[in-house]
Amino acid sequence: MSNPIALLCNHPESMLHAETLAMQWSLPLLRELEVETISDIDFVLVVAPHAIELQQTGRKAPGPIRAEFTEGAVDHRRKFGGGKGQMIAKAVGIKAGVYPWVLDATAGLGKDSFVLATLGSTVTMIERSPIVHCLLNDGLQRARDYALQDPELFAVLQRMHLVQQDSRDYLQSLTAGNFPDVIYLDPMFPERHKTADVKKDMAAFHLLVGKDEDADALLPLALAHANYRVVVKRPRKAPLLNNQAPSYQLEGKSSRYDIYTLKKLPERLNNTGDI
Ligand SMILES: C[S@@+](CC[C@H](N)C(=O)[O-])C[C@H]1O[C@@H](n2cnc3c(N)ncnc32)[C@H](O)[C@@H]1O
Repeated sequence: MSNPIALLCNHPESMLHAETLAMQWSLPLLRELEVETISDIDFVLVVAPHAIELQQTGRKAPGPIRAEFTEGAVDHRRKFGGGKGQMIAKAVGIKAGVYPWVLDATAGLGKDSFVLATLGSTVTMIERSPIVHCLLNDGLQRARDYALQDPELFAVLQRMHLVQQDSRDYLQSLTAGNFPDVIYLDPMFPERHKTADVKKDMAAFHLLVGKDEDADALLPLALAHANYRVVVKRPRKAPLLNNQAPSYQLEGKSSRYDIYTLKKLPERLNNTGDI
C-alpha cells in the first residue's frame, strides 16, 4: 500500500464514525490491529470512543497526537500562564478592555487560538487539512463535554469557532464591514523548533499537510482583509513571510512575532465577530 496514512479503529462503537471518515477521505480503514505491528503505513488516525488521535506506526513510535485543551501544557497555561503579559497578547493587541476579534488563518491543533480565547478574544479558526480539522474538532468537542463542569472553560470555548476551508478562499469571501480585527498567521515552517515534543508534532504535520509552501500568498490577502493588524508567528531565525518587512517585531526564545499594523487599535474594543 502506498498511502502513508490510514484510519484505524478497534472499537465497535466507533466503527460507523471511522467508516464514514474513511469513505469521505478515500483512505484505507484498518480494523483490530495494534499500531506496533503496522509496517506499510507511516501514520494512522486512530478513531476511538475517548478521542481521535494521530499515531505514528512501528515499535519505536512516539505517543499519539491529539488536540487537547483540558490537560497538559495548554491547560496549565490557561490556569497559571502569564495572562495578558504574554507575548502573543501583546502581538495581537489584547489588553484590559481591548478584545479584538481574531481570525486564525492557520489553526493547526488550535493551541494559539485557545490562548487568545482564554485571554478574552473571539477567535475564528480556519484549517484546510481535513485530518487536522478532524483532530481539532474532536479536541474542541471533548473540551466542551468537560466544560459542562467548568463555566470558565465553557466561556472560553464559546469564543472559538472552527471552519474547514482554505483561508485564501475564506479571506476572499469576506466583504468590507465583516473583516476581522486581527488576522493571525502561523504557517508551517521546516526546522522550526528543537524540543522533542514539537518535533513529534511537526513530523506528523509535515506528512499530513506538507510545508505550507504557498504561505507567502496569505500575507497580502490578510493585509487586505484585516481591520487593524496582521500578526505572523515565525521561528526566531526564519526569513520574513513573503519577504515583507513588518511594522515591528517581538522576539521570544524560539519564536518571534512580526506585526503588520494597518490602523491603531481603539482604547476599548470587545468584538465578538459576526459569524
Ligand atoms: C504550524 S500549524 C499551526 C499551529 C497553530 N498555530 C497551533 O497553535 O496549533 C499550520 C497549520 O496551518 C494550516 N494551513 C496552512 N495554510 C493554510 C491555508 N491557506 N488555509 C487554511 N489552513 C492552512 C496547516 O494545514 C497547518 O495545520
